[in-house]
Amino acid sequence: MHAVAEAQPNIALVKYWGKRDIGENLPAVGSLSLTLDSLWTRMQVDFGGGGRRDELEVNGKPAAAMQVRVSRCLDRVAGVDRPRARVVSESNFPIGAGLASSASAFAALVVAAAHAAGKEPDQLALAKLAGQASGSAARSLYGGIVELKAGESDIDVYSLLDAAAWPLTVIVAVNSEIAKPVASGEAMIRGAATSPFYASWVARQEADLAAARRAVAARDFAGLAGVAEHNCLKMHSLMWTSRPPIVYWNPVTIACLEAIRELQAAGAPVFFTMDAGPQVKAVCPADAADEVRTTLAAVPGVKRTMESGLGAGARLVDQT
Ligand code: DP6
Repeated sequence: MHAVAEAQPNIALVKYWGKRDIGENLPAVGSLSLTLDSLWTRMQVDFGGGGRRDELEVNGKPAAAMQVRVSRCLDRVAGVDRPRARVVSESNFPIGAGLASSASAFAALVVAAAHAAGKEPDQLALAKLAGQASGSAARSLYGGIVELKAGESDIDVYSLLDAAAWPLTVIVAVNSEIAKPVASGEAMIRGAATSPFYASWVARQEADLAAARRAVAARDFAGLAGVAEHNCLKMHSLMWTSRPPIVYWNPVTIACLEAIRELQAAGAPVFFTMDAGPQVKAVCPADAADEVRTTLAAVPGVKRTMESGLGAGARLVDQT
């Protein structure tokens, strides 16, 4: 009746942007991501406390805005006739810091809810349930470098490489903590309906995934850098050309990109990626992390940096 699970956020290098089926939240394209390790969300689920409705607490406060999505996810995992639940979520990184907090939250939620309900679904079944709540959450069920394949009516998710097999570091340069102007789900729907680039984005995704897969298999950092930066800029071009346009960048975003370009020109192995927000994320081999962190922290407007290696997928940490 009670279970606690933990999961880490993930950062996509080949991005999920676009939905094949909005109701089922099926992604229109596959994606490839890095699961982080030092940032986490811990979810506690208790069924049957006798409450008349579900209760959700996030970092010590009631969270009404997320309640509906959480309750719907609990229904899918435990069935609509389940007892009401009390859900307590805690993260060691701020929501709005540009990390997909919904990815680690829903990945941890499905694991905790399944165990609290006495079910033992396999990892892939849990990934599919997490993906229905938030597409990127499906990837946080797995560790290291993860690929999500988008089928006609289903997804497949698996780890391409263990975390220890390629020691990469992700450094997030946080430059703003104000809420994003448009939520990513809504932005994707707008892009599919209005951007003239959407069809070519979808058509070319398989080629980017194949290039990224090859680079991962060969531990080819330059190859991964090339496809990741290109894929990220294509996604943002699609956002910019949506109507009305969606621009998540600010001047500090550009300054961080320039700082990374200068590091690259000086021979440092590093590349950037960005998601539905203004923060720039730099990826580099672990032994280049000091130089990259120092450089990004010195960019005017960067409030702070967060750093993480690659980690494991979502897991149960307690059950009674
Ligand atoms: C830019 O997973 O937040 O981070 O399925 O609507 O919840 P929903 O979308 P979400 O979108 C993530 C978009 C992205 C790219 C990525 O993580 O692949």
